[in-house]
Amino acid sequence: MNLSGKKALIFGIANNRSIAYGIARSLKEAGADIAFTYQNERLLSRVQKVDNELNASFVVKCDVTDSTDLDLVFSEVEKKWGSVDIVVHSLAFTPTNCLENDFTKTSKEDFSQTMEISVFSLIDIANRSTPFMKDNGGSILTLSFYGSQKVMTGYKIMGPAKAALESSVKYLADELGAHKIRVNTLSPGPVKTLAASIFPNFKKTMEIVKERTPLGEPTTITDVGNFATYLCSDLAKNITGGTHYIDSGGHIMGA
Ligand SMILES: NC(=O)c1ccc[n+]([C@@H]2O[C@H](COP(=O)([O-])OP(=O)(O)OC[C@H]3O[C@@H](n4cnc5c(N)ncnc54)[C@H](O)[C@@H]3O)[C@@H](O)[C@H]2O)c1
Repeated sequence: MNLSGKKALIFGIANNRSIAYGIARSLKEAGADIAFTYQNERLLSRVQKVDNELNASFVVKCDVTDSTDLDLVFSEVEKKWGSVDIVVHSLAFTPTNCLENDFTKTSKEDFSQTMEISVFSLIDIANRSTPFMKDNGGSILTLSFYGSQKVMTGYKIMGPAKAALESSVKYLADELGAHKIRVNTLSPGPVKTLAASIFPNFKKTMEIVKERTPLGEPTTITDVGNFATYLCSDLAKNITGGTHYIDSGGHIMGA
């Protein structure tokens, strides 16, 4: 796959275990120019290591709840690139108490914060990206998990959040199709990352992957990166609005 000449903006790199990092590395290997954002200063030293390796066109701090941060990201896009071809939204958040407490105890504040960061930010980023994509079309990707479709013990409020994310992808794909902007969800099996470490049942879920999936292999960030690169290439120019599983076939299994 050749992505030379394409410009890819990536949200959600925390370190070199992040799924967003796996995607950025694969896009870069395919010849794309990349730029990425990081959430806050605490991540800076790890993000700088990633930048040293991947040599990004620019790196900007961006907390997606802060519209001035997002304004700055897209003013950099305008200054440095003038257009963008690929946008990767690989981020989510829920307060840890939502995963520890019963689902019925989810507070309105925690629900809103989870939805704002994990779902609304995709709509906001897609809206801001559209003016930079609409002349040449583009590809927007986000990341979901099968807990959106079936109950996954311990996933709790993230289940409804990912269901809303996958549904948003369909509505975005419908609306942005007129500009040849494709919007897709990647749904990997469990991957050991910073975000995954807050889920109490994570280790058990990894064991189930080995025992119960057709291919019996854990998903890697390279697997996700390779599929993302395909979806962002012209080979996938007719594919939009879908949820694509990269999970050793786990999603086809019953109990
Ligand atoms: N790890 C898994 O098993 C797995 C499986 C399926 C889907 N996912 C999804 O993949 C995506 C990436 O997660 P990951 O596993 O690579 O973990 P990660 O911790 O490496 O990445 C999560 C990112 O979200 C960012 N983030 C959180 N709140 C933010 C905010 N307010 N503003 C900006 N950024 C914010 C973090 O800074 C971090 O970079 C998430 O959507 C996650 O739900 C993960």
